[in-house]
Amino acid sequence: MALASLVLSISRRKRERQCMGLASLALASLVLAPSSLSPSQAMAQVLRDPHAYTALPIAAARAIESSRHDAVVSDPLARKLLAGEHHLLTSGANVEHMTKRVLLGDELVQEAYSRGVRQVVSLGAGMDSRAFRMGLFDTAFFEVDRKELFEVKEPLVADVPLQCASRRVVAGNLGVMDLVAELERAGFDKLKPSVWLLEGLVPYLGRDGMKRLAVEMGQLAAPGSSLWHDGFSETSVSRGMSFYGVKYESGFDDYDELWQSNGFDYSETISAEGVWVDRNEKAIKIDKRYRVTSAQLRGRSGCMITRAWKTR
Ligand SMILES: C[S@@+](CC[C@H](N)C(=O)[O-])C[C@H]1O[C@@H](n2cnc3c(N)ncnc32)[C@H](O)[C@@H]1O
Repeated sequence: MALASLVLSISRRKRERQCMGLASLALASLVLAPSSLSPSQAMAQVLRDPHAYTALPIAAARAIESSRHDAVVSDPLARKLLAGEHHLLTSGANVEHMTKRVLLGDELVQEAYSRGVRQVVSLGAGMDSRAFRMGLFDTAFFEVDRKELFEVKEPLVADVPLQCASRRVVAGNLGVMDLVAELERAGFDKLKPSVWLLEGLVPYLGRDGMKRLAVEMGQLAAPGSSLWHDGFSETSVSRGMSFYGVKYESGFDDYDELWQSNGFDYSETISAEGVWVDRNEKAIKIDKRYRVTSAQLRGRSGCMITRAWKTR
């Protein structure tokens, strides 16, 4: 059996559960205006916004990983960014999968930095703390997420020293908002290359929203830019998936084509089984034999990692 077929035949539910971050199935700008909400009012709002709430179990996974004796990720802010939802530390987030995601994002940012890229954009940023921990003091960080999320996050990070040149938060609804205008208003320079992180975001956007976002990113990303995201095949999502009560809206078999048609001329989509954490080397490992094409994904379930570059 060809490797790709073998990969795709591995238990669909097991793979999807792992990728959704559930263990065992128990498993601005807007530079944001100062909030008039008290911390408890802001938290109450997040608790009413299921989308924003999905950021918290992911932060919990980073907090758990950071406290392991053999941790490969150090995210000292993760526990604080739980905003008091400490029960999430025991509620079954898939720490290994989230650790993979952190390392993939960190590695992409570092690889871009080594090429001179000085703009990082985190879309659906959630409780991402890279602006406070990566030590890229000459880099501009932009975080885009829902207003309800920032209402909780900003007071929590207000006294935390930045480890970057600047951090701008842009509140809005990706796939609907005018990302080009809002990011430029926040100081993003589309003539300079950028690195884009869409960790745990794309399944929450509908097909039209995702396509619109890809067009906007194509307009904003200068040559030398790169991106990464995780995602699911169309079949997986159409069978019904959700995370902490939020339904997944879309999966694509052809993320490569989506990015290539928007100027990211080199892209690769890799089945999640081909990506793992090497704890000895404290690094992410990617076996490119697990690369999958849209033809292989069509009609099949799949959890994938996509990376793309604009080389020219
Ligand atoms: C599963 S969390 C991931 C957060 C973060 N990227 C991480 O990996 O820790 C998804 C995040 O995307 C945000 N989100 C979902 N749909 C969005 C949309 N249409 N516009 C802006 N943010 C969105 C949520 O508010 C949430 O913070």
